[in-house]
Amino acid sequence: MFTLVLVVLLVIAIYFYGTRNFDYWKKRGVKYEEPLFFFGGNIKSYIDNVSFSERFAALHRAYPNEKFVGLFEGNRPSILIRDPELIKHVLMTDFRHFHRRGISLNKLVTDPLMKNLFTVDGDIWKLMRQKLTSAFSTSKLKAMFPLIVETTEKLTQIANEYAESNDEVDVRELMARYTTDFVGACGFGIDSQALNETDSDFRRLGKRIFSPTIRDHFVNLMKSMFPETFRNVRFFAPEIEEKTFSIVRQIMAQRNYKPCGRNDFIDLMLELKQKKKIVGESIEKRNVDGTPELVEFDLDDQLLAAQVFIFFAAGFETSSSASSFLLHMLAFHPEAQERCRKEVDEVLNNYDGKLCYDAVKDMKYLEMAFKEGLRLLPSPGYLLRLTCDKYHIPGTDVTIDEGTSVVISVEALCSDERYFEDPETFNPERFHPDNIRNIEKCVYMPFGDGPRACIGERMGAMQTMAGVAAILKNFNVTPSRNSLRRPRIDPKSIIVQSIIGGLPLALTQRQKI
Ligand code: HEM
Repeated sequence: MFTLVLVVLLVIAIYFYGTRNFDYWKKRGVKYEEPLFFFGGNIKSYIDNVSFSERFAALHRAYPNEKFVGLFEGNRPSILIRDPELIKHVLMTDFRHFHRRGISLNKLVTDPLMKNLFTVDGDIWKLMRQKLTSAFSTSKLKAMFPLIVETTEKLTQIANEYAESNDEVDVRELMARYTTDFVGACGFGIDSQALNETDSDFRRLGKRIFSPTIRDHFVNLMKSMFPETFRNVRFFAPEIEEKTFSIVRQIMAQRNYKPCGRNDFIDLMLELKQKKKIVGESIEKRNVDGTPELVEFDLDDQLLAAQVFIFFAAGFETSSSASSFLLHMLAFHPEAQERCRKEVDEVLNNYDGKLCYDAVKDMKYLEMAFKEGLRLLPSPGYLLRLTCDKYHIPGTDVTIDEGTSVVISVEALCSDERYFEDPETFNPERFHPDNIRNIEKCVYMPFGDGPRACIGERMGAMQTMAGVAAILKNFNVTPSRNSLRRPRIDPKSIIVQSIIGGLPLALTQRQKI
């Protein structure tokens, strides 16, 4: 009997604990997604077998008349913002309340690799962002171009082997090997051999980062539900952490821990390392007179390795997704493909047949097609922020608390017929300079927006367009026996959307290479 009473009391206690915040949105008169006991909405993507991006897009679409919708991550209230005007407040106007991305929920303990620019928050983010911005300047991009050209030449050779074999090629994998080599060459001054070897070290690391295992999903779920309890469990699996640190150590040792004049990302890290400390104005702390406090951090090896990690991870996967999906769309839209190819031929003629920074900049129709590809498959398909303090939502009587996650579904906004006529159709003309101004602010954001927008946007656009131009210059791209007009998104995708079965296409040579 005593045991039974104890069990009943325990069940009641767990019930109250697991639902303690579930009236949060109701009390504020905000429509919300009905939470599941204990898990909130966290496990909905697993139950519905959809990616995180698809889950948020479905939630966005389910409330067409709301400016925002409440949801729960475990017991923690979160909010999905639908209205472009409010999105502008979150990403730009009221950025001081939303500078955290909130992937690391525990402010004090941050895994070494999580100190990268994408996942770190607060002052480390602010100071590192200032330091790293110079790595993406126009002069740096121009200086990188010979390496881009070298990598596109290798890409052409490998693509040619596939074309000669008359077999279909998974362009998702091919372009991932191209962007891996590109990032290896431009960022780290090494030949990562991803194009030459199907199973190179770098490609294996890249695949592992973006193929979350059951362990990764479990840790992600637990850390978001119980940030305190799971604060010491590493977000990234040990093999990813070890491999990254070992690669960074190796490359730095090859350069004797001093910048070698290549002016690449590793050189920038080594320059920072020589300074030992990073000092700047705090985004979090204020002096009594209201001015920002000065803060400083040690530039230790782990902090630098974390930036190398994100340069690699964010640098290759998003661009390979964008370039392969663009090739896929062009295979299914031969008239757009022909127009891109004609432009590539004409522009290259003006530059002695050679790909260069200015030539890619002159490929205006290809750029429109690139933007349209990203509209149809934005990768990643959602943006995250976290409130840094209490925030009153403008134009309403709703106030949300510090620590509320904010989600914006780029995927749903990009496919909403309110903002894009006939949204399912691939139509690069939407991004013609005469039409682009008709696109409402804060509905097309494949690179995010505001001070936390993608730092590598121009580099991503350059490597994507250069890779696609190199393919179109030499090959016709058509659907093959296993191509699906609408590829299926892998439900295991957490941030960048992977595709089940890749993107198989057929390549045929335009002329002998
Ligand atoms: C087509 C290619 C790319 C796409 C679609 C893309 C997309 C994005 C998006 C959506 C974000 C989040 C922005 C936000 O929350 O407002 C982001 C952030 C970021 N991206 Fe990219 N990205 C691309 C290429 C790159 C490249 C080439 C690099 C570096 C080599 C890079 C590095 C980063 C970093 C470090 C952040 C975090 C910035 C911060 O929080 O300050 N990305 N990217």
